[in-house]
Formats: sequence, C-alpha cells, structure tokens
Amino acid sequence: MSQSDLIFIGPPGAGKGTQAKRLCEKLGVPQVSTGDMLREARAAESELGKRVAEVMERGGLVSDEIVIGLVEERLARADAAKGFVLDGFPRTIPQAEALDKLLRRLGRSVKHVVLLEVPDALIVERITGRRTGETTGRIYHLKYDPPPFPDRGEGGERLLQRSDDVEETVVNRLATYAAQTAPLVAYYADKGLLRRVDGVGSLDEVSARLFAAVGV
Ligand code: AP5
Repeated sequence: MSQSDLIFIGPPGAGKGTQAKRLCEKLGVPQVSTGDMLREARAAESELGKRVAEVMERGGLVSDEIVIGLVEERLARADAAKGFVLDGFPRTIPQAEALDKLLRRLGRSVKHVVLLEVPDALIVERITGRRTGETTGRIYHLKYDPPPFPDRGEGGERLLQRSDDVEETVVNRLATYAAQTAPLVAYYADKGLLRRVDGVGSLDEVSARLFAAVGV
C-alpha cells in the first residue's frame, strides 16, 4: 500500500494549491489538482473545456461524473504509483465515495485528509491578490508572496489573474463550499483521517504546521 496518498480540502483561496505544491516537493509525488486540469481544458478550448466554462465562471461545481473521470485517468498514470496529493478533489460526498471505490480497486488507501482552515473574512483578499505565472503555474500573492516585478514573475514570465477570482464569484464559491464540500469534514473525521491545519499565518508557518500534521 502506498504511504503517500493525501487529500487537501478547504475553502477557495485557503492556500491548498500553495501548500500542496510544497508537500509534493517534499514527498516527491505529483500534485493532482482538478481545478488546474479543468483550467487546462478551458485554455485548450477542448470539448470538455467548453462544457465546464460556464459553471466555473459562476463559481459552481462541475459534474461529479466529469471530475471523477479526470481523476481516474490521472491516478492511472505511472508517476502516481508511489503516491499523490489530491488538491480540490473530492468536493462532494459522491466524489469521496467514488474515490474510496477507485482506491480499493487499486489496493491503496488515503493516509491523511488535510483540512486547511481559513476564515471567510480573509478569503476575498487572498483570492483577489492572487496572480499565477503563465508558464510555470507558480502561485503568487501581490502582498503576501509578491512576484519579483509587479506584472512579471520569476524568469520574466507573464502573470495571469484567474477569471473566477473576482469578488462576486468568490462569494458564490464560498457558498458552494459550505453547501457541497463542508459535509466532507464529518465524512473523513468519522474515518479518523481528518487533520485540521490552521491556514492563517505566513506561508512558512502554515507549511510547518502542515508537515507536523502529516508527520513529514
Ligand atoms: P480550484 O482551482 O480547486 O479552486 P478553489 O478550491 O476555489 O481553490 P483556489 O485554487 O481558489 O485556492 P487555493 O486554496 O488553492 O489557494 P492558493 O494556494 O491559490 O477550482 C476552481 C473551480 O473548478 C471550482 O470553482 C469548480 O468550478 C471547478 N472544480 C475544481 N475541482 C472540482 C471538483 N472536484 N468538483 C467539481 N468542480 C470542481 O492561495 C490563494 C492565494 O492566497 C494565493 O495568492 C496565495 O499566494 C495566497 N496565500 C496562500 N497561503 C497564504 C498565507 N498563508 N498567507 C497569505 N496569503 C496566502
């Protein structure tokens, strides 16, 4: 059984992507972000990208069937054999049940489910200040993790702002999280897998709490 199958849950903008990357580097396993996969499909203007664009723009959830299919395909790739960190999946109880079933079939199981906790009051500032490097996908924050130049990242890459990172959409994303994803907290607590990590503080402080919580 793999020792490095982890899940990150938490509200939008809590720092899941930022901390998942750091944990993956430490563990040497891939980060599997359904948000990134869906944004790639949109950027490529594939059939899938076109189907999911509208729901993402308004801060709703893409259908369980679509994201479960994406994750099944991704976890079948060779680099996930020694472990993975899931970021942004599962996000509903049916997704969690489908993941349980898939991992059982593969003879593996989740070791830790990290709940990154950040109060709603901090979320809008975190999300509206986010910028992402066009080539590397590196996540910055204009105030808390600033890029080397106001409009360029490391190596001079262009910085992009996500189209769902506007205040009205963030409010919808928070409501979607409360209604559809928050029930996963009890689901994983009942299985003894939940690790609560306080997501407030500097990036390094949060990483230190995270590494302690998952014992790395
Ligand atoms: P997704 O991309 O997963 O978005 P999200 O869950 O809303 O999370 P974010 O990516 O916004 O935030 P994060 O927690 O990763 O924070 P980050 O590290 O960037 O999903 C997007 C959409 O895709 C969904 O709305 C949905 O439509 C669809 N989707 C995706 N998965 C799906 C699924 N499973 N089912 C159905 N639909 C799905 O940090 C945010 C900012 O804060 C950054 O600027 C960062 O630099 C900064 N920051 C991080 N840590 C700190 C800190 N400690 N102090 C100060 N600033 C910090």
